[in-house]
Amino acid sequence: MNILSHIVARAGPCDYRREPTDMQAPMNVFSPESAGLSPAVEIADLTKTYRGGKGRPPKDALKGISLSIPRGSIFGLLGPNGAGKSTLINILAGLVLKTSGTAKICGYDVDADQRMARLSIGVVPQELNLDAFFTPRELLELQAGLYGVRRRDRRTDELLRAVDLTDKANSYARTLSGGMRRRLMVAKAMVHAPPVLVLDEPTAGVDVELRRSLWAYVRALNKAGVTILLTTHYLEEAQELCDRVAIINHGQIVANDTTANLLARLDNKKLCVTLDADMPVLPDNLRQQGWEQTGPRQLAVAYRPSEAAVGNLLRVLQMNGAGIVDLSTDEADLEDIFLQLTRK
Ligand SMILES: Nc1ncnc2c1ncn2[C@@H]1O[C@H](COP(=O)(O)OP(=O)(O)OP(=O)(O)O)[C@@H](O)[C@H]1O
Ligand SMILES: [Mg+2]
Repeated sequence: MNILSHIVARAGPCDYRREPTDMQAPMNVFSPESAGLSPAVEIADLTKTYRGGKGRPPKDALKGISLSIPRGSIFGLLGPNGAGKSTLINILAGLVLKTSGTAKICGYDVDADQRMARLSIGVVPQELNLDAFFTPRELLELQAGLYGVRRRDRRTDELLRAVDLTDKANSYARTLSGGMRRRLMVAKAMVHAPPVLVLDEPTAGVDVELRRSLWAYVRALNKAGVTILLTTHYLEEAQELCDRVAIINHGQIVANDTTANLLARLDNKKLCVTLDADMPVLPDNLRQQGWEQTGPRQLAVAYRPSEAAVGNLLRVLQMNGAGIVDLSTDEADLEDIFLQLTRK
């Protein structure tokens, strides 16, 4: 068995409920035998202290992080600048040496099983570090060579097609737009068919349309079985894409849950209504229930969805003779939770 098929067989994800994608999935990473294997990423008590020097004190960038990323998930790693996200990713990628603890990718320890660990992961760094004088085709072939992927196992054309760069296959990388380069970086990270793909700020500085198309590609990869770990500063991106989210602050995990559970944590919504006539004075009973006037015909009330039903809130308004012409609700989003957890 060659190293690639070994990876695919050993490390393939195991969520068979997902529909296979009709998109050109870069690799078939499904493997029934792989069911029940170790998580895609497993980190225990991971610490990293960057050594100080020349008047700089040492920096504890990771202070004992434990994290398990299930196979088949799209996992978001969020945190403010300097929280330790890139340090963590770079340890997984074999680019930074950890100080203590363990990190495993598909069961392969990044130290003890370095080779297999590296083959199990593809990393798209934040910086666009492409050699300007190679074409996309050459860059993908070169990368495949570096990973020892045999010619017959290479899928250069398929990858180019998947990231919509077939037209540009033979143009110098320096002639590609920023968005095209980023797509090429994703293809480059996928040449060895890693079962785990890590994207560090994949859509930073990318326009809305391209962001959507990158999301679609990430979803397609995920449907094909690739576990995705991404960092992002766009919280709506995490909210839309990720099924699980961990928030890291000052080198520690401060939240790690499904996106839905995290959102449910802030049991807080706001109901805003527009009335059909001015309400000169807010009746006492409405004020006591938390209603406030936000305009001559506008009222708002904060409520806990787990405790109050909107129907009841509206009924009280109607009992006070108010006619309702419009209403909206404001939900807590990931940004609220992020700010709450990282403000300290
Ligand atoms: N090579 C290094 N030497 C010394 N300190 C470092 C080094 N790399 C990172 N750090 C420090 O470690 C901490 C974590 O940095 P890291 O790059 O992991 O943060 P991050 O969460 O990726 O931030 P950002 O959102 O800005 O990318 C920061 O305080 C940073 O200054
Ligand atoms: Mg970073």
